[in-house]
Amino acid sequence: MYQQLSTRIQSRACVVGIIGLGYVGLPLLKAFHSSGFRVIGFDLDDNKIEHLKRGENYLQHLGADLVSSMVQAGRFDATSNLARLSEVDVVISCVPTPLGKHLEPDLSFVRNSAISAAATLGPGQLIVLESSTYPGTTREVMLPILEKTGLKCGRDFFLAYSPEREDPGRKDHTTQTIPKLVGGIDRLSGDIATELYRQVIREVVQVSSAEVAEAAKILENVYRAVNIAMVNEMKVVLDAVGIDIWEVVAAASTKPFGFQAFYPGPGLGGHCIPIDPLYLTWKAREAGLSTRFIELSGEINRAMPAYVVNKTVLALNSRCKSVNGSRILVIGLAYKPDVDDVRESPSIELIERLEALGANVDYNDPHIPATHKMRRHDLGMTSVPITAQSLAGYDCVLIATHHSAYDWQFIADHAQLIVDTRNALRNITGDRSKIVMA
Ligand SMILES: NC(=O)c1ccc[n+]([C@@H]2O[C@H](COP(=O)([O-])OP(=O)(O)OC[C@H]3O[C@@H](n4cnc5c(N)ncnc54)[C@H](O)[C@@H]3O)[C@@H](O)[C@H]2O)c1
Repeated sequence: MYQQLSTRIQSRACVVGIIGLGYVGLPLLKAFHSSGFRVIGFDLDDNKIEHLKRGENYLQHLGADLVSSMVQAGRFDATSNLARLSEVDVVISCVPTPLGKHLEPDLSFVRNSAISAAATLGPGQLIVLESSTYPGTTREVMLPILEKTGLKCGRDFFLAYSPEREDPGRKDHTTQTIPKLVGGIDRLSGDIATELYRQVIREVVQVSSAEVAEAAKILENVYRAVNIAMVNEMKVVLDAVGIDIWEVVAAASTKPFGFQAFYPGPGLGGHCIPIDPLYLTWKAREAGLSTRFIELSGEINRAMPAYVVNKTVLALNSRCKSVNGSRILVIGLAYKPDVDDVRESPSIELIERLEALGANVDYNDPHIPATHKMRRHDLGMTSVPITAQSLAGYDCVLIATHHSAYDWQFIADHAQLIVDTRNALRNITGDRSKIVMA
């Protein structure tokens, strides 16, 4: 089985199927396609499949020709029919791993993708999970579903975990240049998955087990959550004593070792950092342990939107205005620059909190023309244009996301009062007295 799949990988006869064509699955599909593999993308969202079939890319930051180039080259198909997993040699699952109502891991998408893979599982297939999750998921959740077919892992089929480390919007790295971790359920599974990824990704690091690879991904995300919380706490303290946190981080960053810069902001956003650490918290409880760093960082980071709103209220107050009845423009709805992703974005909470205080809030985001219904929010708003006149009409402009498309000097020249959570205005010249850092 192993040799057969290895030969198919080397000769590019191997067909790669990816389940879940979102921020992670779509660029991965493209990476395999670019390396000469025939690829089939699977997603339950018919809308996405229709776009792909028309050669259209629904994720702007990946570039307009990402899908059209695959359609033109051939070796590409997309479908919502998961029975077609029988046509592929390799199944890679990139489905969401959100939190449930009580902040517990919601593995329903992972489970469903395993059930789909099991329904068509054939001898010699390789299944890989890429979704971020707690250590143990591949072995405890995926493996039993797949082995229920009667096929045995390591003998009849292979199963591995390889965490996705995609950072959408990043310009200095692509899927191919980010080193890839791979850990198998058994030795052969790890070896064959490593061989597959080596065809596509410049550096593949094989670790001893799926659990090590799963835990490494969680460690990366906990590391970010904790350090962001630390710098957010520093921001609050330094602001109270009149010191600029941004200048302090820049100063500390001159140390050539032992320090990595993290930056404060209006709160955590995105699918990973606010969510993945809580997967470990849940798993730790199984061992009767708590994860105090994770809990504490969550508490600090979650307090940031309220802190920013309070700074906005005080900024308006200093101009003898109340937040109630004020017109406020929130700049940037996405959770980070140059993407259209609003999942867990602190901007949403900022808008809701300000509106609850009676403010009339608009937003501008060049990447998000209108809001859509989310699981917990439905703002029903559309992005308003930014003009000299419109800027001057707002009592306060609140910078939440520093998209590179913004002309900060123009915004600073025309706004009456600006609350800046991202140090976006660091280089502007002119009257800085109207800028409040938050
Ligand atoms: N977005 C990121 O920056 C990022 C980075 C690293 C890791 N991750 C992890 O990767 C995983 C995927 O994240 P994402 O941002 O790509 O999610 P996403 O929501 O953008 O995409 C997931 C896709 O899976 C589809 N889907 C769900 N269940 C399915 C099923 N049973 N069969 C077929 N399709 C199904 C959905 O329709 C959706 O299109 C998550 O575990 C996430 O934590 C995300």
